[in-house]
Amino acid sequence: MDDVFTAARVVAGELLRRLDDGGRRWRHTQWVAAKAAEAAPLLPPADGELLVAAAWLHDIGYSPHVALWGFHPVDGAAYASAHVPRRAVAGLIAQHSGARFLAEARGLSHLMHPFERREWWSGALPDALTWADQTTDPEGRPIAVEDRLAEMLHRHGPDSPNARAHPRRAPVVVAAVRATEARLAGAVRTSGSASVAMA
Ligand SMILES: [Fe+2]
Repeated sequence: MDDVFTAARVVAGELLRRLDDGGRRWRHTQWVAAKAAEAAPLLPPADGELLVAAAWLHDIGYSPHVALWGFHPVDGAAYASAHVPRRAVAGLIAQHSGARFLAEARGLSHLMHPFERREWWSGALPDALTWADQTTDPEGRPIAVEDRLAEMLHRHGPDSPNARAHPRRAPVVVAAVRATEARLAGAVRTSGSASVAMA
């Protein structure tokens, strides 16, 4: 495998196409990866590659071939650690979309210890991964982050760990989405003024 991006796409396809879910998880993943590719130019090239690789792999923990503890961010990260030659990809998978709050609500924070580097949950790179995931619904369609969070709460139920994590997790997820939207808008404005200057 010649680069982390190709490795990630191939591994994700092998694991998620096999799921007995009518193709939902694979469709979602393909769109999350496409959105990540939109945001990648916001980042230095090496980080952009990590972002897209992590987007391809962020939900592989749902595969029964990968599941260890039944907590998909860490299960996916552990698998990526063994199969994708970039440690940061595993860290981004483990921390995507406020996973640390879900781990805490489930009493699984100890599983996050190998993936606790701040740059894996804070900053433009993890923000962009959370933006891509939380503005794409489980079917792969675009969705507002507030609707995505509401749908998640409905799906998991009011007594779920997701519901317990929600008061702390939701503001962090929404902030990551808003920050990425602002960075994208800023990039458009910058390229627009460059075009005007060149005209
Ligand atoms: Fe996802």
